[in-house]
Amino acid sequence: MSRTDRTLAQGRQGTLQAPWQRAAAGANLLGADGRLDVTIFEEITTLAVRTGAINLGQGFPDEDGPDVMAEAARDAIASGANQYAPGKGIPALRDAIAAHQQRFYGLDLDPEDQIVVTTGATEAIAAALLALTGPGDEVLTFEPFYDSYGAVIGLSGATHTTSPLVAPDFHPDLDALEAAVSDRTRVILVNNPHNPMGSVFTHTELTRIVELAHRHDAVIITDEVYEHLTFGVQHVPVATLPGAAERTLTISSAGKTFSFTGWKVGWVSGPPELVAAVRTVKQFLSYSSGTPFQAAVAAGLAMDDAFYGGISSTLQAKRDILADGLRTAGLEVFLPEGTYFINVDTAPLGVTDATALARRLPELVGVAAIPVPVFCHPEGAERTKSLLRFAFCKRPEVLEEAAARLAQLKDRL
Ligand SMILES: Cc1ncc(COP(=O)(O)O)c(C=O)c1O
Repeated sequence: MSRTDRTLAQGRQGTLQAPWQRAAAGANLLGADGRLDVTIFEEITTLAVRTGAINLGQGFPDEDGPDVMAEAARDAIASGANQYAPGKGIPALRDAIAAHQQRFYGLDLDPEDQIVVTTGATEAIAAALLALTGPGDEVLTFEPFYDSYGAVIGLSGATHTTSPLVAPDFHPDLDALEAAVSDRTRVILVNNPHNPMGSVFTHTELTRIVELAHRHDAVIITDEVYEHLTFGVQHVPVATLPGAAERTLTISSAGKTFSFTGWKVGWVSGPPELVAAVRTVKQFLSYSSGTPFQAAVAAGLAMDDAFYGGISSTLQAKRDILADGLRTAGLEVFLPEGTYFINVDTAPLGVTDATALARRLPELVGVAAIPVPVFCHPEGAERTKSLLRFAFCKRPEVLEEAAARLAQLKDRL
């Protein structure tokens, strides 16, 4: 029996090893490098607040999402939708997620047993990794990687392996990827569009990932929270590729698409057996997720094409304001194809340590950014040591002010 079959069978019988047993068996809750201590996001945000800097560090919009959704949340509260939702999510939201996957990608999902609503994508990632991996397994991510991946892989007790995304386009190196995947790889964890690097993987790259997953009997977990935030390139969900759906868990979230990051409504979809495994773990993480916000997100998912088209065009204009400012500041700009993050190389200004610069930047020019090495293991940190990530999900006037401040950087270094 293959490992995937075994997981599927275990999922059916409800005999997956409990995550707390795995944690007790070796997961290290506080990494030796203190990674689960205070995060760099907290550190930089604290600095930004103290200095009054424009915070382009953490990725949250400075404007709320659609009024109709806020109204729907208020209505849900007023009408009494205030007690625990069903563990897998309210039917209206599961139906809306299924309809969204059909409408945009032609994917057929049964809302009963192929979708689970989670407390943000963060919980979906945690529940999926804790359900499927443990000591002795490897989880492969691209590097740099979104920080919660490293933390949760650590909690699961699995080994985190990586394959680099390198400048200037930060797309997968398919030979390096092939070399990094082995029969020990239990999960290939894809993030597309990619945070922090802003790349949107191509059909060819994704096809190779699926082939490798088949060859090594790995499950694909794909974090597609930026699915609607792309600029002139098409987002291809992994699950739409031939042979992928049967071994892929797809994760998304209302936070990025609708600019309601604080609502923390996410979801995971995939084959019933894998989704059941996620649901099993989710019961003990949060049990269920915020009831009135679920109703509001269901309303949001049904919005018309004009809304969805508008998300990326508005964001692209913001990207271009900040990109111009960063170029004028003398930095090398890597223009993202998706997400709301833009990366720069600070080396042209003679900077060799972007982490040290990020700690000085709020005082130097009144702008905060995140150093890319924090999204890496030591080797990757060395490769990216002069890179900084800026978030551009802010009002145009805020980005223009940030650009004006950054223009001072070369004189103040
Ligand atoms: C790649 C990626 N995955 C997941 C998340 C978390 O999403 P949520 O806020 O829905 O938990 C983020 C948020 O920044 C992200 O960038």
